[in-house]
Amino acid sequence: MGIFEEIHDRKNTRSVKWDMLKPVFQTDDVLPMWVADMDFKAPQAVNDALKARADHGIYGYTIIDEDIKKSITNWVENRHNWTIKQDWLSFSPGVVASLHMAVQTFTKPHDKVLIQTPVYTPFYKVIEGHDRQIVKNKLQLKDNYYHIDFADFEEKLKEVQAFMLCSPHNPVGRVWTEEELQKMAELCLKHDVIILSDEIHADLIYPGQKHVPIASLSADIANQTITFMSPSKTFNLAGLQASYIITANEDKRNALSEQLEKQGHHMLNTMGNTALYAAYEHGEEWLDELRNVLKENQDYATELLEEKTGGKLQVIRSEGTYLLWIDCSKLNMDKTALKKFMIETAKVGLNAGADYGEEGDPFMRMNLACPKQIVEEGVDRIVKAVNTL
Ligand SMILES: Cc1ncc(COP(=O)(O)O)c(C=O)c1O
Repeated sequence: MGIFEEIHDRKNTRSVKWDMLKPVFQTDDVLPMWVADMDFKAPQAVNDALKARADHGIYGYTIIDEDIKKSITNWVENRHNWTIKQDWLSFSPGVVASLHMAVQTFTKPHDKVLIQTPVYTPFYKVIEGHDRQIVKNKLQLKDNYYHIDFADFEEKLKEVQAFMLCSPHNPVGRVWTEEELQKMAELCLKHDVIILSDEIHADLIYPGQKHVPIASLSADIANQTITFMSPSKTFNLAGLQASYIITANEDKRNALSEQLEKQGHHMLNTMGNTALYAAYEHGEEWLDELRNVLKENQDYATELLEEKTGGKLQVIRSEGTYLLWIDCSKLNMDKTALKKFMIETAKVGLNAGADYGEEGDPFMRMNLACPKQIVEEGVDRIVKAVNTL
């Protein structure tokens, strides 16, 4: 049996996805296909490195040395064709934490920040939680695929101080093309808007797709951009809390470093540090196999959810992430009824689209980073439920 086919019991491991069902869905009786982590073990090399580190048994303060920085710059170069310098890197426990710090560093209270909705829920809190205001460039759904309304994008740039980009985009699954990124970046330069680019899903693109870091497009764009990356989504290491920030511009980097220090973040934890290094040094083969598995899961779920429901469900065409964005508008339910239907009738634990902004209603987000058998079970439950209507 392949490593991506094995079913692991994650219950009673303090897993958010598996052990938080009752508080989130008010029942334990749902198949969890929500929060974005995977039901796969990390690469063997990562687990071996963590075991070796645990065998040593001393967990004192840990440095981020040249080897680790080099493994990151190599990764970004090899996987994303972007040459970065080691001293452009800063570190933080997570991308969300970094976004909080970036918003505090590069904007002032009451400033406005542009986002493309529907979008990853914490973006809202990262902005509003610091007394900044959200401005929306709503993504346009046309022919089952999301597009950017560039006229609106430019109009909105005139009133904001920062643009928070989600690239690839969670939840709609777009891997933005070089052309789209170039256009967005040039407009941000024209209106002097800083780009905060969350690229945590960069590695999780379907085979044949290409992720372009927006800051890699030109030196001017790099100068205007802060990029957030992490091995956590890629290798299922979210609980180990290790991420990094890439800032080419020295003044911006210094300002951000000051903020990181003020908040006490200037190193990685020992296990996160160990896992990051092992993953980047030895995880490529695992990742490429994973991407094939995710694509198979996407194809399978898309076909069945659409065909077996007679088109009542429509899966949005996507190029990356392992999140399926399902248009449920033909079920004619409001968001409360839809949520209740998925929990009580289908018995699946999905994320409600409305949580990503009102533009996400009536969609559901389904996490397909699990063995095929679980995907089959989840799809089957949804299909049967829809066909009872
Ligand atoms: C777009 C995006 N950014 C950030 C995160 C979380 O990052 P972290 O766990 O490093 O805070 C996620 C997790 O799903 C995500 O989808």
